[in-house]
Amino acid sequence: MAKVNAGILATGHSYPKGILTNADLEKMVETSDEWITSRTGIKQRRKAAPGEYTSLFAVQAAREAIERARIDPSEIDLLICATVTPDQILPSTGCLVQAELGANNAAAFDIAAACSGFLYGLSMANGLIRTGQARCALVIGAEVLTKYVDYTDRSTCVIFGDGAGAAILGPVDGERGILASRIKSDGRFAEHLYAPGGGTRLGSTAETIARGEHYFKMKGNELFKVAVRSMTDISREVLEQAGKSADEVDLFIPHQANQRITDAVANKLEVDSSRIYSNISMHGNTSSASIPIALDECVEAGRVKEGDLILMASFGGGVTWGGVLVRW
Ligand code: COA
Repeated sequence: MAKVNAGILATGHSYPKGILTNADLEKMVETSDEWITSRTGIKQRRKAAPGEYTSLFAVQAAREAIERARIDPSEIDLLICATVTPDQILPSTGCLVQAELGANNAAAFDIAAACSGFLYGLSMANGLIRTGQARCALVIGAEVLTKYVDYTDRSTCVIFGDGAGAAILGPVDGERGILASRIKSDGRFAEHLYAPGGGTRLGSTAETIARGEHYFKMKGNELFKVAVRSMTDISREVLEQAGKSADEVDLFIPHQANQRITDAVANKLEVDSSRIYSNISMHGNTSSASIPIALDECVEAGRVKEGDLILMASFGGGVTWGGVLVRW
């Protein structure tokens, strides 16, 4: 039987209209545009309004990808929604998106792998498509992180933004599509980025909320070092798995966490800046949405051509990390 891979057939993205600039943050906490720009590369981020929630952006991004793939939602048999900011605890945001899209023949569920969620989703879709268990997959990364951000904590509130990105995947011949993928995690670093409250351990009580335990806590400095090391190692691993070298990569799309992390990884991989995509200045860190938003922006801008070799690498809370290499 001929070898089959999962190919990315179409993409889409969406984000809130609301913009939070560094100047806005200067009025909220003790920070400066100069500090945020030089330490992170971020100039602005999108912020959902009070009535806006994760599935809203997930559905918009998915509709764009579905339209571009020229498929009917009923053809989707696998719907993976990567998110750590679900609409609600039950049911999954994937099921809420499924209903909204009318993707009634899909198995829908969520993945909670933080910023690596989209690459976890691509890896799973690839496995199920390659083994014939799925034929048409919708993988979404969607977050409304700003609702879990403490806007009195300057070390986290400058980083995160909201949005969603989506991809439709289907079988393609073995020379194209996802050539290699690898996902990893290390729960020993769980407290590097976490929200202690809101679950079964501490619950959501008046006390936990008053103490701000539902907000993200982050050891930024520690994460920085692990992120650079993990994203570099996993990039090398997927390149090796596919028998490719970094020289052959046409476009490197890293998770948009911090411009300094991107630069450090690219430097170690020896990928020059002309082959790296960065939108961190416009979006900040949108966790699982960051890679699919970036990918779709590249597609829309004509930066992705048929036959291009695209390397994606991520790192996030958990901690989790992943790498996916695609022949477009
Ligand atoms: N404005 C001004 N000063 C700030 C600040 C802000 N928004 N946030 C922190 N500082 C201060 C700190 O209080 C500290 O002051 P001190 O030296 O007087 O104690 C100083 O800046 C340096 O803090 P540090 O945390 O060492 O800065 P950093 O260079 O590591 O940058 C991050 C902080 C968060 C930008 C950086 O560590 C980072 O991006 N880490 C990765 C985060 C990440 O990717 N998280 C998501 C996982 S995907």
